[in-house]
Amino acid sequence: MKDRIRVGLIGFGTVGTGVVRILSKEKDLITRRLGVPLTIAQIADRDITRKRDIAVPPDILTTDPQRLIQNPDIDIILELMGGIEPARDFILNAIYNKKHVVTANKALLAAHGEEIFDAACKENVDVGFEASVGGGIPIIRAIKEGFSGENISAVFGIVNGTSNYILTQMSEKGREFLDVLKEAQTLGYAEADPTLDVSGGDSAHKLAILATLAYGTPVPIEEIYTEGIDHVTPLDITFAETLGYKIKLLAIAKHFDGKIEARVHPTMIPKEEMLAQVNGVFNAIYIIGESVGESLFYGRGAGSMPTGSAVVSDLIDIARNIQNGTNTRVPHLAYLPKTRTRLPICPITAIDSSYYLRFRVGDRPGVLSEISGVLGRHNISIASVIQEGRKGSSSGDGVLLVMMTHQAKEADIQAALSRINQSPFVFEPAVLIRVEEKNNNGLTRNIRT
Ligand code: NDP
Ligand code: HSE
Repeated sequence: MKDRIRVGLIGFGTVGTGVVRILSKEKDLITRRLGVPLTIAQIADRDITRKRDIAVPPDILTTDPQRLIQNPDIDIILELMGGIEPARDFILNAIYNKKHVVTANKALLAAHGEEIFDAACKENVDVGFEASVGGGIPIIRAIKEGFSGENISAVFGIVNGTSNYILTQMSEKGREFLDVLKEAQTLGYAEADPTLDVSGGDSAHKLAILATLAYGTPVPIEEIYTEGIDHVTPLDITFAETLGYKIKLLAIAKHFDGKIEARVHPTMIPKEEMLAQVNGVFNAIYIIGESVGESLFYGRGAGSMPTGSAVVSDLIDIARNIQNGTNTRVPHLAYLPKTRTRLPICPITAIDSSYYLRFRVGDRPGVLSEISGVLGRHNISIASVIQEGRKGSSSGDGVLLVMMTHQAKEADIQAALSRINQSPFVFEPAVLIRVEEKNNNGLTRNIRT
């Protein structure tokens, strides 16, 4: 038994300062739960002169992460610097040095998780990554432990706080995309490279982690169909509202017939659905299990303190293992490594969905019937149409035509749109947004199998 557990922190930024603040503020509470103090022994950051939100003794600061990794007194390396290299290198070095690791780095885990967890398995060290998905929501532990007896058919939801914050502000306050993105950066929600948030990349990283845990298979990031919110316009948000929907960036994984469906894209959800009411920086993740039915996890998906809370829960979990002389009691990726299999990931063209389609077309007779003719020939049936009336005498920019389809095959939709987009009466490529509809049980039918 140790008289305290010592942590070496690499990356003293938004999340790093949150962790230090929680460990200081909740020192007594944590000691009562763990039995011994949990302390930050050293902090590495490339800039140790910058003023941070919380003061620490200057002698624990260094610019050299190797000093932490090589320090025999440090039990756990906490990687909160982000990015792929040198974060990967530091983590592998720590593992080979028999140190346990905690990280929030979903980009790294999605790209190099297999290598990191293989190494951790060989060296018998724990790797905690609760903060990598859902900010402060304990979704990783829920899948690995709470649902360890569940056959999970689907895991899906809103997993990027920045995008949800932007969509909410655009929809409720009519604010500009770039203006809200800047605010999300100031609030500490966005990634160092915010393109990852708005392009759907960050959601795809998180989905890769969730699906890997749920299904015991590697889910290569490049096989996840990914679209972001960067092309969602105020016009489509307004049409969605008129039609009774909200637009949310969803990450969706399903398991059926021995295959995995994994996709990230803006999705129209009926306004009354719970996911449609998840606003601001909040995330919400559904787990659908054969025995348990549906469970919804909701909470703050980003930010210094909520994410710091998830990180601290990993530190305590590992510290408890250290005190009990155990490690890797729960498999890193929820399944025993030798039982993991490589399941095929379906391409997006294999999915069924209903669709919102928006066209800008020439204002002349016959256009509507030409478009519906092409859709019909591709087995796509139209549920409703909104045709914008003429604005004054000028029709140079064309008029807007919005269609909601019934359930259709994505391959058919893509083929039909490619045909329609080539027509001389179409002024710009059609906008497509996938729609989740309700079925008779009140469940959205595209996702919940
Ligand atoms: P920040 O950019 O705020 O903090 C990272 C810190 O690490 C910065 O001080 C940075 O310095 C420093 N750093 C970067 N590279 C090095 C290096 N090579 N050596 C030493 N220090 C380095 O990021 P966050 O705290 O927001 O994010 C950290 C991690 O947590 C990322 O993996 C992110 O994806 C993840 N995460 C973040 C969440 C959030 O809400 N912010 C939520 C969940 C996960 P500099 O400023 O000079 O670059
Ligand atoms: N940039 C991420 C988000 C941080 O906005 O969700 C939390 O992972």
